[in-house]
Amino acid sequence: MSSVLVLYGTGEGQTQKIAERIAATIGERGHETNALNVADRPDASTLDEYDAVIVGASIHVGKHQDEVRNFVAANRDALAEMPNAFFQVSLSSADEEKREEAAGYVESFVTETGWHPDRIGQFGGALRFSEYGFLKRLMMKRIAKDLLTEGGEPNGDVEFTDWDAVDAFAADVAAFVEGRLGVAPDTTEYSGA
Ligand SMILES: Cc1cc2nc3c(=O)[nH]c(=O)nc-3n(C[C@H](O)[C@H](O)[C@H](O)COP(=O)(O)O)c2cc1C
Repeated sequence: MSSVLVLYGTGEGQTQKIAERIAATIGERGHETNALNVADRPDASTLDEYDAVIVGASIHVGKHQDEVRNFVAANRDALAEMPNAFFQVSLSSADEEKREEAAGYVESFVTETGWHPDRIGQFGGALRFSEYGFLKRLMMKRIAKDLLTEGGEPNGDVEFTDWDAVDAFAADVAAFVEGRLGVAPDTTEYSGA
């Protein structure tokens, strides 16, 4: 058994939802997991409490959360010493024609932080029209016009996250962590793949 930190930044909660799903999926294999919001101000010593770490961030106007980028840049050596992974949440990943744009955000993150994650996941995010103010609502409708059904006038939330892909990423990272640390999943509680 190992302990895995899922550290995330989030604007409207979709990255938090994905982080919690990843933590739960890895937890089902018998590992101790904790999903922690970067806004709760973890420091370098936080990493000492875990055997492995997964960092998640979402894209807002072409950028990841500053807090995530700063934390990763400041702690990249400590991150590199443990099995690690990165996942990114964006609307671009939900649009077949914008996959390159999403990959470009990941590339920028790697360049800006100097951290080269062992595993990388990219997931479609969500539109939370119920939480946007007037201007954000207008902007997001324009940005996401290709993703929204024609003539649709969404008032609620629209989710583009592929949860099977999230579960597959979590399983892949768990297997990688187990391999690196030489620990086995706890099969008394876990019966998945
Ligand atoms: C103000 C705003 C700006 C955004 N800008 C981008 C963008 O530039 N590129 C993109 O792919 N997605 C963009 N998105 C989509 C978000 O990445 C998506 O809504 C995601 O689910 C947000 O996750 P979070 O709730 O964890 O912050 C934007 C969303 C908002 C609300």
